[in-house]
Formats: sequence, C-alpha cells, structure tokens
Amino acid sequence: MIRKAVLPVAGFGTRFLPASKAIPKEMITVVDKPVIQYVVAEAVAAGIKEIVLVTHSAKRAIEDHFDRNFELETQLEQKQKTELLQALADIIPQDVRIISVRQGQALGLGHAVLCAKEVVGDNPFAVLLPDVLVDNHQQPEVDLAKMVAAYATTQASQIMVEAVPEERVSQYGVVALEGTSPQAGDNQPMTGVVEKPAASEAPSNLAVVGRYILPSRIFALLENTKPGAGNEIQLTDAIAALLKEERVDAYRMTGTTYDCGSKEGYFAATLAYAVRHPQIGKMAQTLINAAAQ
Ligand code: G1P
Repeated sequence: MIRKAVLPVAGFGTRFLPASKAIPKEMITVVDKPVIQYVVAEAVAAGIKEIVLVTHSAKRAIEDHFDRNFELETQLEQKQKTELLQALADIIPQDVRIISVRQGQALGLGHAVLCAKEVVGDNPFAVLLPDVLVDNHQQPEVDLAKMVAAYATTQASQIMVEAVPEERVSQYGVVALEGTSPQAGDNQPMTGVVEKPAASEAPSNLAVVGRYILPSRIFALLENTKPGAGNEIQLTDAIAALLKEERVDAYRMTGTTYDCGSKEGYFAATLAYAVRHPQIGKMAQTLINAAAQ
C-alpha cells in the first residue's frame, strides 16, 4: 500500500502574483476551500495516511490550515455553530498526519522531492503537485487510487498523463511510450520522458499531470541528477534514469485537470466547482448564465 504522499509547496507562485504575494498560492480559495485542501482530499481518497509538505518559511499558513485551532473551536462550540465546527473537522480526517520538511533553497521539483527522503524512508510513495486540481467527480474513484492499485499489482511506477494540444507540450514533462497511446484509465510502459520539450521534439502529446507513484530508489537517482531544464533539478530527469533500470508506466487519467497556478485554470476551476456546490450551485449557474447574456 502507498501510505505517504509528498506535496511540494515551497514555490513562490510567481504566475499567480499579485494574489500570491503575502499568502501561499496553495491557500487561495476555489469556492470555499483552499486549493491545497482539495489536493490533500484527493490523496486521502487514494488511501494516503501521511502527507509530507515540502515547504518554505513564508508558507506557514498551509501547516496552520491543517492544524487544530483550539481557540477557534472553543468559541464555535460555545456559540453552538455545529456546521462550522464540522467544516473544520472535514479539513482532514483525524487518522491522517501532516508532516512538514523545509526546502531551504529553490533548486527545482526534483530537489523538493529529495528533501522528503528521510521522512519517506524505504517505501514507495505518491507525489502530488498542488497547483493542479484533478477533478474526478464523474468517476467512481479518484485517478490516484487507480494508480495506487496498479502499483500494487505491477510494482511499476505510475506517472499520470493527459493529452494536451501541441502548442502546450513545451510547458510539461512529455512521455514516450511503447506502442499506441493508452485509453483513459489504462497504463502503458514508458520508453522515455523529457521535461518541457520544444513542440517539434516532443515524443508524444501526453503531458505529465503532476501525480506520480514512485519507489524510494528515486531518491538515489535524484541525488545524482544534474540541473536540467530551467537550470533546476528535475524530477522528470530522475524518472528518465529510473526507467532505464525498471518498468515505469504512464497512466492516462480519466478526470479533468485545472491548473490553479494559472489565472485561466483557477477561474475555470472556480466555475466548475461553484456550479455543483451544494449551497451555492444553483445561484452560481444563474449568475453565470446572466453574465453570458
Ligand atoms: C512540473 C513538472 C512537469 C509537469 C508539470 C505539471 O513542471 O516538472 O514535468 O508536467 O509540473 O504541472 P512545472 O509546472 O512545475 O514547471
């Protein structure tokens, strides 16, 4: 079983300025919850029990969000605000632990994951990049749970991918596959992966979404990974080294992604989550219809 998930949250979120100047970009709300809460819920839905935040001193609000706040809880209890107390209790189940480690220097995603080495230990683990919301509300289970199950069966690392238009491949890690592209919900062994290739050099249109199941072997490979694209230590480059040693699968997702690190993706997520919100959904739809007139 995969019990631990690493969430790199140390980045400054320059794409989201000015909103992310004084608050972490992961704490910006989509409807009524911060983005990070959706991502943690996704991990929990896949059976994760320990969330390892790789974080930065400027981002303490994230740890505080998942911590208890007795003063606030006591006040809500005295005022018998049971719904609000429940909203606080729903932030994270009691049997899930949040652990944080610091990434003192911004040396890249690969370096951020390496910072979690001691906490993860000798176990396979998940990585979730919290900029991206993976919306599985139309599927019976989250895509990450399918990746966890596939790992349990095959022991092959799982890299979530989705098809993107050619003009966007240069923004992502892009995979090369054995044979034809898998159908949504299926896996296929990878033959390569390259970080942010030029469109003309991309091996496919299948982009790495930001959800991974990896073995602890990846840490040793990360320790030997030289700075790559953007002069950063890239997780993608360590995965490319891993697949020279053992099988690594691309898992083609079934859900929808929203890149909440970008203004467009954040806005699209806000609309999508608002219209199906139990309290404000109907009103949100009416407002959207009116704005479109
Ligand atoms: C990171 C990864 C990239 C992946 C992307 C998904 O890039 O390095 O392989 O496709 O996340 O969002 P970043 O967006 O941090 O530049």
